[in-house]
Formats: sequence, structure tokens, C-alpha cells
Amino acid sequence: MKGIILAGGKGTRLHPLTKVTNKHLLPVGREPMIYNPITRMTRAGITEILVVTSTEHMGEIVNLLGSGKEFGCEFTYRVQEEAKGIAHALALGEQFAGKERVLVILGDNITTADLGEHVRAFEKQERGARILLKKVADPERYGIAAIDEKRIIQIEEKPEKPKSDYAVIGYYMYDGEVFDIIRGMKPSARGEYEITAVNNAYVERGTLTYGVLEGPWTDAGTFESWQDANRMLIGEDRER
Ligand code: G1P
Repeated sequence: MKGIILAGGKGTRLHPLTKVTNKHLLPVGREPMIYNPITRMTRAGITEILVVTSTEHMGEIVNLLGSGKEFGCEFTYRVQEEAKGIAHALALGEQFAGKERVLVILGDNITTADLGEHVRAFEKQERGARILLKKVADPERYGIAAIDEKRIIQIEEKPEKPKSDYAVIGYYMYDGEVFDIIRGMKPSARGEYEITAVNNAYVERGTLTYGVLEGPWTDAGTFESWQDANRMLIGEDRER
């Protein structure tokens, strides 16, 4: 399996912290934010990693990460010229993925948990996609999964009336079909290609499975959640 880290976006919810720098370069604990998703991948045995970011910040990202030697992996980079959503950024990974499946991580999702067992579960799955859920206190902020018995029946993006408190968090595993799904998509009302629409396409095909992430997790896209991420990692040793 290969890895794709999505590190684009404007980070407007963190302004002015992100006015001149990329959100994923901000410190979390003792390291830049993007080190966390990289380490989740390498520890799960994924060493070919594509990093997608905006034109504006690609230089800084490459200066920080380099070839990947220091991380025990190999980086490939692609520029997302317009911030048109998570699925749009993911589509840039088609050539990189080739015939392999991918683990996609949103670069602002922070955890100390090991993703290895989830990666192995997906490797055993014949086809489709596997996503990770986590119980949250503020479901209106996330993609929320409606679960019936053991299956996901629908995912709603930032619902006003959430059908559960299980958030779809930023760790997604896909087979090659994902790129065909994105090609057939239209942008949402806010003009973005939504990752939730991609996951719902797999729900319709009956090939979406899920796991629940055990251990601490937060996103770091708002000032409060970025502070939570810092609290989570500040006592931890550096991973590099
Ligand atoms: C994105 C996804 C959402 C997911 C969240 C996890 O939202 O659209 O479904 O729950 O990441 O961090 P964003 O934080 O980009 O608004």
C-alpha cells in the first residue's frame, strides 16, 4: 500500500497563524504538524508517500521534508493549484498510486495511535474502502456516520442534526476505484469535491467497511483543536 498526505488548503480557521505559512508546518508538540501523519504511515509499514500541497507552500514543505531519507521513506510531491476540496487533492494521486491501494491522511489529523492493524484489515479486504471512526463530543464539526447494526448506511458532512456521534476522521483507505469515483463527481454547494461524497459512493456499492480508532486523536484545523493537539503531543518524545 502507498500513502498520500493531503497538506493543502488555506488554513483560514487558523488565521493569522497561517497567513504566511502552511498549517501543516505549525508546531504540534516538538515537531511540525506534518511529522505526525508521516510517522503514522512509516510505522504502519508504508514508505512510498505522496505529499500534496499548494503552489505557494510547496517550497517550504520540500525544504522541510526532503527526499524522505531522514524519515525512512521516499517522498513524491504534487502541487494542488486550486483549493477545490479533499477529493480534488486526492485525484492528483492517481498516477502515483498506480495499481496499488492507498492510505490517505489529512495532514492536520493528529494521533498517537498505531494504524498498522487497520492497514492490515484493509489488506485482507477483497475490494472497496475502509475508513476510521471516532466518538466525538461535537459531531456538527465533522463528517458523521449513520450506523445500522455493523454497517455504515450514510455519511453526512457537518450535519445540523447528527445521526450519531461517530465522526469519520482523516484516515481513509481506498482501492483503485476511488479515482473513477472522483472523476464522476460534481462539486458540492460550497464548490468543493467532498471526501464524504467519495465515501458515500462506496456505501452505495456496499464495499465500505470501518474501524474505530483506539487512543487519542484530534484534528488541528481550528485554534482550539490545534491547542488540543499540542496538549496531546507536548509530553511525548520527538518521533524523529
Ligand atoms: C474534513 C472532512 C470531514 C472530517 C474531518 C476530519 O473536514 O470533510 O468529513 O470529519 O476532515 O478532520 P474539515 O476539517 O476539512 O472541515
